Amino acid sequence: MKTGAARATDGVIYPYGHQSINRDDIASVEEVLKSGWLTMGPAVEIFERAVADYTGAAHAVSFSSGTAALHAAMHAAGVSPGDAVLAPPITFAATGNSAIYCGGRPIFADISPGTLCMCPESTAKKLAETEYPVRVIVPVSFAGYPAAMEPFRRLADKYGAALIEDAAHALGASRGACRVGTEADLTVFSFHPVKHITTAEGGMVVTGSAEYAEKLRRFRSHGIVKSPVEGSGEYDGPWYNDMIELGYNYRLPDILCALGTSQMKRIGGFLARRREIASAYRELFAGESKIKLPPDHPGHAYHLFVIQVNRTIRRVVFESLRASGIGVQVHYVPVHLHSFYRKNFGTREGDYPISEAYSSGAISLPIYPDLPDEGIEYVADEVIKAVRTAS
Ligand SMILES: Cc1ncc(COP(=O)(O)O)c(C=O)c1O
Repeated sequence: MKTGAARATDGVIYPYGHQSINRDDIASVEEVLKSGWLTMGPAVEIFERAVADYTGAAHAVSFSSGTAALHAAMHAAGVSPGDAVLAPPITFAATGNSAIYCGGRPIFADISPGTLCMCPESTAKKLAETEYPVRVIVPVSFAGYPAAMEPFRRLADKYGAALIEDAAHALGASRGACRVGTEADLTVFSFHPVKHITTAEGGMVVTGSAEYAEKLRRFRSHGIVKSPVEGSGEYDGPWYNDMIELGYNYRLPDILCALGTSQMKRIGGFLARRREIASAYRELFAGESKIKLPPDHPGHAYHLFVIQVNRTIRRVVFESLRASGIGVQVHYVPVHLHSFYRKNFGTREGDYPISEAYSSGAISLPIYPDLPDEGIEYVADEVIKAVRTAS
């Protein structure tokens, strides 16, 4: 096993992503386990405050996963049966799925090759064509590249839609002086182990709106209110609770929130190391004309480092890297090409040519805080070797 390798159980020496857990993280979890509050206790608000303060958002509501957080954001934005939700094909299926959970209809808009994020012009064109009422536009800050929000804000305003940023890849990314989290109406993060910080499973919605925050909290806990609100039954005693709408149990337990708070104390170091790894790859691949590097941005959070190679050699390069113990991945198979979407929404190959062209050559390389320098060099050497041999 190589020094600093994350795990070697499945032949993978360097996975594409991996959590970093230290003694303080473990101690924080242990403390909560001994505290008497496993869920719905004080650790939840502490974690939410940490993420709100870090992003600059007024409110933060935690969820049991990023997917649950997206579902809640779609609900809070009012997505109802038949509503259009504009999303890019280059994302995890959860972005579109969360609209479908609310009865919405995902409508894809192609990406820009220069950012790999949803293209504002394609979005405008799709919006003009759609026959469905537009409820939400959901750009994805893909790989940690902070997608510019202004063009989508203008479109959202024009169509009376809400703007949700799927920032599952982009905790800590920034646009100018602003961290991701304040420009969209609702911004969604994921804390899956490969993300910038982890709670094992977990997610968060941040928002500037107290009204959205209230809806999100209610949705997370069965749609139940503990004191009368508009549309609820009358107060009938100190036991008062009234379920006023259908909600879920999407709560993130205190144990995981404690891990999240501890991880938030380390986010500066996590981001710095990710950016260092990205720069090292850029230097090591300089002059390799057959390796296309990902778009850069001063505020990039580098959740992923995705190179593109010619589609005709992608498979052989991918397999060769896997055989060398490098846990490369493809982010993503375009969502519109998944069987479910083809069957239910009639999408097909050729619909989104830029997304398809990008995806057919994409390979995600290892990038995570504990990836050692020798790991970066090993990966770069193996990639260069594999691409030269295959070309
Ligand atoms: C872009 C994007 N959105 C949403 C999610 C869903 O997050 P989770 O896995 O925490 O449910 C992910 C997860 O990988 C993602 O990459």
